[in-house]
Amino acid sequence: MNIDRERLIARLDTLGQIGMSDGARARLALTKEDKLGRDLVVSWMREAGAEVHIDSIGNIHAMLRGISDNAPVMTGSHIDTVKRAGALDGCYGVVAGIEVIDAFRRNNARPHHTIIVTAFTNEEGVRYSPDLLGSRVMTKDMGVSAALALISTDGERCGEELERIGYAGDRAPWDFLPAVYVELHIEQGPVLDVRRIPIGIVTGVQGYNWWKVTVMGRANHAGTTPMHLRRDAGDAAMRVINQLTERARRDAIPSVATVGTFTLEPGAINVVPGKASFTIDFRDPSNEGLATAEAELRRSLDALGDEGFTTTLSSLSRNPAVAFDEKLCKTIAQVAADRSLASLEMLSGASHDAQMLARVCPTAMIFVPSRDGISHNPDEFTMPDDLYTGAVVLLETIARLAARDAVS
Ligand code: GLV
Ligand code: MN
Ligand code: MN
Repeated sequence: MNIDRERLIARLDTLGQIGMSDGARARLALTKEDKLGRDLVVSWMREAGAEVHIDSIGNIHAMLRGISDNAPVMTGSHIDTVKRAGALDGCYGVVAGIEVIDAFRRNNARPHHTIIVTAFTNEEGVRYSPDLLGSRVMTKDMGVSAALALISTDGERCGEELERIGYAGDRAPWDFLPAVYVELHIEQGPVLDVRRIPIGIVTGVQGYNWWKVTVMGRANHAGTTPMHLRRDAGDAAMRVINQLTERARRDAIPSVATVGTFTLEPGAINVVPGKASFTIDFRDPSNEGLATAEAELRRSLDALGDEGFTTTLSSLSRNPAVAFDEKLCKTIAQVAADRSLASLEMLSGASHDAQMLARVCPTAMIFVPSRDGISHNPDEFTMPDDLYTGAVVLLETIARLAARDAVS
């Protein structure tokens, strides 16, 4: 069996055109652009001979029936994007997964285990928090009704948006829970590119906390209010942020801290800000690192309280560090070795639906290099040769897992 290399690359390009506007790509979850991407992916799934099922959180499952009734072997990823995204984050794993099913069809090869390729809903978590929503609901980390009741950053209810785009399915997401899950993804960091290694064997994912913070001070005149009499919420917020990022910058600490959104109110050049709202994305490979940073953040906010500010800290998403399945990592490493491909064991800095699946079944991921380690950016790029190689390793891994008695 083989991967149709030209089609894999062409489809990534075609899907990548959806949601382009003024040179920037955005397919935020459950928008009309997401619907167009979904419709295209479903048409490719059908062309590959798969049965397509939509579950109640809008996950799309392409199923190739196996000979046995055993729990399926699953691969997949997501096609929702961040703002100003590249074409590969998530899409690569879904499009390559469809190629895997198509390889079976072209060879009239019926797997022993059913194979499922899933496109999960709202992996990115840009429009709806928490992130990893489809896999979170599938693994029962969050209930369906709670998920459908979520409100987007632009004020729309998740359940209504699913209805509107035609992806409110009636199947229970956990009906599709697999015996094993393998996700193929671009690395989104520099490790494989710098070392010129084509295959990453992902042994785990670092943990993270996402928060929304508000700091309330007092709006006042920028010219007349002496510095010692103002309660400048913007200045206070920036002090808290500096403490957090300075800590993460210390050499011995592997944490990363990001403030990706920041709003000041009323937001005028000559008004001392009365309110600051911002988000924090904080990640660390160890759960102790996450806990220490959280305690420090809480102390910084308490200190602002002593200065007369009112603060709130609410959790948008959190996930502990996850270790993937050693045996499955070895299987992938063996597939790479059998093809004389160099591979490297590594942790993932980015989060993935695989983190949720790892709670319920043996899980691992395959990475391919990202040029200059750039991602969540339109310049995200992986060499076609590397995209093809990763898909070949996925196909062979899935073929081995779906063979008789490979998983129980
Ligand atoms: C998803 O790409 C994330 O790591 O936030
Ligand atoms: Mn992704
Ligand atoms: Mn992403």
